[in-house]
Formats: sequence, C-alpha cells, structure tokens
Amino acid sequence: MPTIANKSIVLASRPVGAPNANNFRLETSLLEDLKEGEILIKTLYLSLDPYMRGRMSDAKSYADPVPIGGVMAAETAGVVIQSNSVLYAVGDHVCSRSGWQEYFICHEKDSMTYSVDPNIAPLSTYLGVCGMPGRTAYFGLIKEGKPVAGETLVVSAASGAVGSVVGQIGKKLGLHVVGIAGGQKKCQYVVEELGFDACLDYKADGLEESIKTACPNGIDIYFESVGGAVTETVAKQLNTGARVPICGFIANYNTTDMTKERTPFHIFGELENPPEHKFFLVFDYYSEFGEANAALTKWVTDGELNYKETLVEGLENAPEYFSWLFSGKNFGKLVVKIADE
Ligand SMILES: NC(=O)c1ccc[n+]([C@@H]2O[C@H](COP(=O)([O-])OP(=O)(O)OC[C@H]3O[C@@H](n4cnc5c(N)ncnc54)[C@H](OP(=O)(O)O)[C@@H]3O)[C@@H](O)[C@H]2O)c1
Repeated sequence: MPTIANKSIVLASRPVGAPNANNFRLETSLLEDLKEGEILIKTLYLSLDPYMRGRMSDAKSYADPVPIGGVMAAETAGVVIQSNSVLYAVGDHVCSRSGWQEYFICHEKDSMTYSVDPNIAPLSTYLGVCGMPGRTAYFGLIKEGKPVAGETLVVSAASGAVGSVVGQIGKKLGLHVVGIAGGQKKCQYVVEELGFDACLDYKADGLEESIKTACPNGIDIYFESVGGAVTETVAKQLNTGARVPICGFIANYNTTDMTKERTPFHIFGELENPPEHKFFLVFDYYSEFGEANAALTKWVTDGELNYKETLVEGLENAPEYFSWLFSGKNFGKLVVKIADE
C-alpha cells in the first residue's frame, strides 16, 4: 500500500474561556509502516464530548492535558485497513482512543481499542448510546444514584448523550422521571420519544415553580450534568436522603478560573441538609463495562432505548462543532463523520 497522508487536528494553544479556531491547527503527516502486532485504523466516526474541554486545559484534573502540538483526544469508531496482528483482521470494526485524526496506528494490545459489531447496532452508536455516554448513564444512575422504584429522578441535559439514557433507564426501573433541557423542541422530544414523565425548559421563566409541579413528592435523585443556575434551583427541592451523582457541570467548563466558580460541590455542600453527592467517572466501573455494553446494545436492538444523533461532517470543522456542546446546538449525541468505509 502506498504511504498514507494523515490529517489531524492538534491543540495549538490553551483556550482562555471558550475555545476558538486559533486554539487548533490542521496538520498533515505521513504514516509510518506497521510494526509487528500493530494495526492501522481508518477513522469513520469521531466522537465530540464535553470532557475534551478539560483536556485542553493544564489545570489539575483526573486526566493529563493534551500537550501543545498534540493530537486532540477523542474516541473514534473505524475500520482496520492494515493488520500485522493475529487479533484483528482487515475489515474488523473497532473503537479506539485515536483522537481527532483520519488514521491511527496502535498495538493489538492497546487497552483502549476494542472490537464492535455494526451488524448488531449502527457503528456510530458505539460512541453514544452503546458506548461511553451510555455506560456513564448506566453506572451513574444504577450504582451512584441507587434508585428505588417509585422515587423521583431529575435529569439535567436530558436530551443529550448521557441524560437521554439516564432517564430511559430510570423509567425501566420504575422511577418518576423529570428531565430538564434547553428549549421546547428538546423538551417535547424527551417526553414524546424518550418517555420521560415531564421535561422542563430551563431557558423559559419559572423553573422553580415548574419543578414543584412536576415533582410533587420532591426529588430523590438528581443526575447532575450541568451545574450553574439549573443546579441552584434543583438543590432547593431535594428530599432528605437524596443522592446526586455528579457526572459533570458543563456550565463551568469554559471558565477562566475554576477556583472562582460556584460548582455543584459548593451548591450541595452548603445546603443545611446536603444530599449524598460525589463526582464519579465512568472508568471507575471499567471492570464491569461488559455488563453495561450487553444491556445497552440489547435495549437498542430491541427498540427499548431510543437515541438521537447530531451527525455532522468534516474533520476540519471539529473545533466549530465542539462549541455546539456549550450552546446546546447539538441535539443528542454529537458525532462527526470523517470518511466513508
Ligand atoms: N463523569 C463521567 O465519566 C462522564 C462521562 C461522560 C459525560 N460526562 C458529563 O456528562 C455531561 C453531559 O455530557 P453529554 O456527552 O451527554 O453532552 P450532551 O448532553 O450531549 O451535550 C451537552 C448539553 O449540555 C447542555 N448545556 C450546555 N451548557 C449548559 C448550561 N450552561 N446549562 C445547562 N445546560 C447546558 C446543552 O443542552 P441544552 O440544549 O439542553 O442546554 C448541551 O446540548 C457533561 O457534563 C459531561 O462532562 C461525564
């Protein structure tokens, strides 16, 4: 095979506040020949996720930052196009942590690369409902939220990749499920397509009153993904003994100084009767991923778990698409199509 030119998006500088085009650079490099045990993956779909904002910063975090000049971190779904491995054959489909680029070479033993089957569920869903966001919802609700049938669950970013799955699993477990999302269109989708009992538009007036109406017995579990004004309002209506799995707090991610932010830890910690609240990471449950993968794919193939994707095109546009996660322009899982198979 002739030498392949690989396009990638690297971090050119660390964003101050919201990232802009100057923080990224498109580069082209020639791929090296495969060594023993290595495979070459062609990226078909690139996942864009809020956590990537943290990787652009060198502030202390649970994960190392992307170095300046390094390829932006991401999980992708692709196809093996060359193999020097006994574990993967040409034509196999895989997910890997290849980053924002067209091709990726990794060793067959790379722990972040694994096979997926597009005959069971569409390839892009392994980045969403059947992938990391789905697993986050599964473990975050079941293990961290400790739900009991009949309780009330409130889910923020309810139409998004994680929230949409949280609420649907909540309904399966017999909870009264109330979503919070930005705008009528998203709220309508959450109720009509995802089956939540209600969904409240936090961009409209009167969120506090609408939570009271939708949650007549108070809130037992709040699945936290956003922080900010939504969290301030929800916090006032938590029941004694409530659990708050802190999955994320996107409202604070573009801050210029996190130490000056009022995060969910401040908001819940200051309550007279604080709920059980702690940040969890989906990788805390790494050893149990198989259980979640099996459940999520089965529910999707059985039509029991609905999902929506915002499927956009073009690696070079990834920085612009990434900003959509913060404005809410994405509707469901944000995925960039990089190439045809
Ligand atoms: N802990 C973990 O292991 C883990 C794993 C995956 C994801 N996460 C976290 O889970 C959360 C959701 O991730 P996702 O991939 O499912 O994203 P997503 O919901 O698909 O997209 C982000 C959504 O957040 C909402 N949003 C943005 N800014 C907001 C603000 N200031 N206030 C309220 N809502 C805002 C927007 O929806 P609206 O249009 O409704 O405003 C936007 O569409 C993020 O905080 C992420 O960091 C954590």
